[in-house]
Amino acid sequence: MNLNPNPTVELLESPNWSDYELIDSGAGRKLERFGMNKLIRPEAEAVWQPQLPEREWQQAAAEFVPSAEENGGHWVARREKVNPWQIRYQQLNFQLMLSNSKQVGIFPEQACQWDWVSGLIQNAKRDFRVLNLFGYTGGISMAAAAAGAQVTHLDASKKAVQWAKENQALCQLPSTSIRWMLDDGLKFVQREARRGSRYQGIILDPPKFGRGPKGEVWEFYRDFPELIRACEKILADDAEFLLVTAYAIKASSITIGNAVRDALAGRGGNVTQGEVCLREKSGGRLLSMAIFGRWQRG
Ligand SMILES: C[S@@+](CC[C@H](N)C(=O)[O-])C[C@H]1O[C@@H](n2cnc3c(N)ncnc32)[C@H](O)[C@@H]1O
Repeated sequence: MNLNPNPTVELLESPNWSDYELIDSGAGRKLERFGMNKLIRPEAEAVWQPQLPEREWQQAAAEFVPSAEENGGHWVARREKVNPWQIRYQQLNFQLMLSNSKQVGIFPEQACQWDWVSGLIQNAKRDFRVLNLFGYTGGISMAAAAAGAQVTHLDASKKAVQWAKENQALCQLPSTSIRWMLDDGLKFVQREARRGSRYQGIILDPPKFGRGPKGEVWEFYRDFPELIRACEKILADDAEFLLVTAYAIKASSITIGNAVRDALAGRGGNVTQGEVCLREKSGGRLLSMAIFGRWQRG
C-alpha cells in the first residue's frame, strides 16, 4: 500500500445521542448538556460569537473557569448537587463527574468511533480481541465489549481504571469481558509483542504528554512513531482495525493518517483520516474536537 499523496479529510459527527448536545459555542466557551446537567467549558477553538443570549448560558449547572496555566482551572457549581450523575448512549451507561481537569468522564464526539468499532466487531462474527491503550474511563472499551469483543483496557491512572470499572458495572457487562491493565502504553505493547499476543483491533488515544505508573514519560512526537510500529507487530493476521485519535497536539489528521499508512503498509486495506466534530444546536456550526487516522482491513 503506497502513501496516498492526496488523502481526503473526513469530518465525523455523532448524531445518535439523545443524552448529549452541544447547545451553543462561542467566545472561547461551549455550552453543553450531558443528561440532566448543562455545563460551560472553555473551548479555545470557538473563536466566533455565541448564537444564544447570556441568559441561556446562565442555565448551566456548573462552569469550568480556566486559570493562567495550561489545563488549569476549577469548577464553579451553580446548583447544589451536581456530582455524580449518569448518561446513556444506546445500550451503554456512563458515570459522569466534574473532575479536576475540565473533563467529565466522557468524550461525546467519540460516539461515531464507538459505532464504527462496534460494527466491525459484530460483522466479524468470530472471536475478537481488542486492545484499548490510554483508555481513560473506557467509552470505547464499553462499546467494544458490548459488541462481543474480549477487551484489554489499559491506562496509567488508577483512578481512570476504577472509573472505567464503574462504567462496566453500569453497562451490565460481564466482568470477564474486560481485562484491566494499569501500565505504561508503550512498554505494555512491547511486552505483548515479545509474548506473541495478538489482537484483531487496536485503539489508541495517546495524549500530548503523560506518565506511566512508574513515572515513564510519554511524549507524543518522540514516542508515537515507536508505538505505532509496535502496535503493528501485535495486530493479528486476521485483524480488522486500528484507530488512532489525538487531542491537543499541533498536528493535522493527514500526519496521523500517513503514520498509520506507513506502519501498516504491508497489510493492504484502507486508511482514512479526519476530525471528530460536534455540531452545535444553536447555529449548526461544526466544532472540531480531535483528529483521527484509522485502518480497516476490508
Ligand atoms: C486523552 S485521554 C484518553 C481518552 C479516551 N480514549 C476516551 O475517549 O475516553 C489520555 C489517557 O492516557 C492516560 N495516560 C497518560 N500517559 C500514559 C502512559 N504513559 N501509559 C498509559 N496511559 C497513559 C491518562 O491517564 C489518560 O487517561
